[in-house]
Amino acid sequence: MKPIRKAVFPVAGLGTRFLPATKAMPKEMLPIVDKPLIQYAVEEALAAGITELIFVTGRNKRAIEDHFDRSPELEAELQAKGKQALLDTIRTILPDHVHCIYTRQAQPLGLGHAVLCAAPIVGNEPFAVLLADDLLDADTAVTRQLVDAAHQHDGSVLAIQSIDPQDSRKYGIVAGSAVDARNTRVEHIVEKPAPQDAPSNLAVVGRYVLEPEIFDFLRQTQAGVGQEIQLTDAISAMLKHRRVLAHRYEGERYDCGSKEGFFKATIALGKKYHGLDAG
Ligand code: G1P
Repeated sequence: MKPIRKAVFPVAGLGTRFLPATKAMPKEMLPIVDKPLIQYAVEEALAAGITELIFVTGRNKRAIEDHFDRSPELEAELQAKGKQALLDTIRTILPDHVHCIYTRQAQPLGLGHAVLCAAPIVGNEPFAVLLADDLLDADTAVTRQLVDAAHQHDGSVLAIQSIDPQDSRKYGIVAGSAVDARNTRVEHIVEKPAPQDAPSNLAVVGRYVLEPEIFDFLRQTQAGVGQEIQLTDAISAMLKHRRVLAHRYEGERYDCGSKEGFFKATIALGKKYHGLDAG
């Protein structure tokens, strides 16, 4: 498999669960302690050797572009005031060899459609997809774990975890045959099934390494659950032709698309990385 250099960040969602906070601000800019959610995802991608960051944006998302751009006025002011540590913090958000590319998803037609919007930029090479809502705190970046598995097994790889069977309607659910302790060859995948229809309790979390063939299947995918073009449905079609693995990642996941997960992440990361005490 070719090296994995590109990552797609679908960031066009409206973030209605966090209104009014997200009325004028992208949900991906909500901070956990002092860093926006999207920066956690970007740092994870960088730790996996990704150098091209492809953001699939929508309206109201300019703050994301500004965040990953230089800010000369702010830098000049921090410099003048001798605030070197803060200056370094904002200057080193992205290393110089990393590039950001922005493209728009004009209509909210679903995650699969968002990924397809990146096709002309990704081209014919394998790539990662990271959903910033899922904050994954791990010793080895989860995207790195997937990239390693993709190279080892020569196929696409989805990050999975066990869930409470009652929660199956929130996830893509996979089933298949075990390859080794952490990897399963996917034979079935279904988006947001009812508990009685779920093929297992193994849920996809928001990290994928995909072969470029996925675009062929996305182009043929019709609207599915929620009337949206689902990435899961394209993966389901692809796995009849290409190897797709589910990788049980090592790390802790916080569902920052929900208030509860967001709150938990704030407490846990505040304690772990900032020595904060919630009392
Ligand atoms: C998306 C995917 C789903 C996956 C989930 C992980 O759903 O469609 O298959 O399990 O992300 O967070 P969403 O949470 O965007 O509804």
